[in-house]
Amino acid sequence: MAIIVSGLRAHSRLLGELLASRLNLRFAVVEGKRFPDGEVYVRVTPSVREEDVIVVQSMEPPQNDALVELMLIVDALVEAGASSITLFTPYLPYSRQDRVFLAGEPVSVRAVLRALHSLGVGRLVVVEAHSERALSHFPGRVVNVNPLPYMAKLAGLGGDALIVSPDMGGVSRARSVAEALGARSCYIAKVRDRVTGSISMDVGSLDPRGLDVVIVDDIMSTGGTLAEASRILLERGARSVQVLVVHNLNLPGALEKVTGAGVSRIITSNTLPQPRLDVVSVIDITPVVAGEIARWLS
Ligand code: R5P
Repeated sequence: MAIIVSGLRAHSRLLGELLASRLNLRFAVVEGKRFPDGEVYVRVTPSVREEDVIVVQSMEPPQNDALVELMLIVDALVEAGASSITLFTPYLPYSRQDRVFLAGEPVSVRAVLRALHSLGVGRLVVVEAHSERALSHFPGRVVNVNPLPYMAKLAGLGGDALIVSPDMGGVSRARSVAEALGARSCYIAKVRDRVTGSISMDVGSLDPRGLDVVIVDDIMSTGGTLAEASRILLERGARSVQVLVVHNLNLPGALEKVTGAGVSRIITSNTLPQPRLDVVSVIDITPVVAGEIARWLS
């Protein structure tokens, strides 16, 4: 019988509770505090000796704090004799630095995943990790859950929408939504300047005139990608633009940028904490994750 243990963050606890009740597993929260100098203290109080433990850790910013806390939790679980440790981190931080773009850079996600594995994480469950390449750096077993078809259906999107990926890397993501809805999909070619971070987009022959468009992406960070794609699609005659994005990092100014570019609704998930706003529809993805974990456990 497995046990679910969540990290200290309120959102880790919320996701842990949801998952535990869906999987009918025991649930415990790690105890902890901050020392006056900022260092983190954690303590795992339930007995985990010879137990299969699923650690739930939410990685919203500041993600570096969440990472250190997670490392300490994993070490405590090993020390306490857990027989296996599975990590469920819905949003995988550093996933976008999955290769060296400019000489001298690290492969940041590789450093993070190797560190977690070497500490004792044997299995990893993530939701829509940025790329398969990012996950290939984890030496253990990985499940990458794609919640987009589920989210699209629950949000009531229809087969008459045009599903657009705002870059070539997201084509299969958009296709998975289009297939689920029986809709058409296409992509915009995005180029990011690796030094300045600025983006430019080429829509090619894409003709969105009179269509209700849904832009599908994995991450909304500054909102620049979704805002620019929306602006171009509306300029080219799209009737409306909605956004379906798995992880909204909810950075200051991002929502305003995206809605200011004409996006009428942002459909996102609870992989990260979300604001309560009429323009944001939040879909709980734990049923999809629980289904994947249940298959493992059986
Ligand atoms: C990039 O490859 C990702 O898929 C997202 O499109 C990107 O991370 C979004 O970032 P931002 O919101 O800052 O444009």
